[in-house]
Amino acid sequence: MTERKSADWAAYYEKLRERPPRRTLITALDRFGPDAAGSLAVDLGCGDGRDVIEMLRRRWRVVAIDAEPEALRQLQARPLPPGEELTPLQARFEDVPLPLGLSLVNSSFAMPLCEPEAFHRVWERIREALPSGGRFSGQWYGPKDSWVGRPGMTFVSCDEALHLLDGLELEMFEEEEDDGVTPRGNAKHWHIFHIVARK
Ligand SMILES: C[S@@+](CC[C@H](N)C(=O)[O-])C[C@H]1O[C@@H](n2cnc3c(N)ncnc32)[C@H](O)[C@@H]1O
Repeated sequence: MTERKSADWAAYYEKLRERPPRRTLITALDRFGPDAAGSLAVDLGCGDGRDVIEMLRRRWRVVAIDAEPEALRQLQARPLPPGEELTPLQARFEDVPLPLGLSLVNSSFAMPLCEPEAFHRVWERIREALPSGGRFSGQWYGPKDSWVGRPGMTFVSCDEALHLLDGLELEMFEEEEDDGVTPRGNAKHWHIFHIVARK
């Protein structure tokens, strides 16, 4: 994980509070359809719950993992859907075992925030933990991203990403390259792979 300060993350959560769930997550949930209500999802690097809320709204059970206590505090302070089954877990996602019986691993804009060795280890664990028909949704960063070279982060080329996803059915694999700004208002060149993959 990058040495980003807790106060920075708190400001990030505040800034993005009202944003809708990620398109990758929506695509994965839509593909499962309404019969998947009651299934188990894990959100790695859940932040303050932008995606978690949508999973709970669709009656999924969710294990929400984040290294920042403030993320989980803000998640639990949100108005949660009635009858929700949420297990918040403060941990680094490279350190916790994935729960048995999961159907979906979601990790929006979080997996790249760890060292390459950890990134690959976590990805192997995700692949192993997914049952046949299970899905991964999330984002990885490409080598043209302007954050390349920052310590504690992982960037994969398109070929590497496709290699890592080999054997999974790609329901979304979109490469985005764009000049924009970060939520903190800094100029940034984004190079992102948006992924939904089914085992
Ligand atoms: C860019 S935010 C994304 C939050 C949320 N998934 C979203 O899409 O809005 C990344 C989140 O990942 C968390 N994070 C980063 N590295 C982590 C790690 N190694 N283990 C657990 N959480 C981590 C941060 O604390 C932060 O909440």
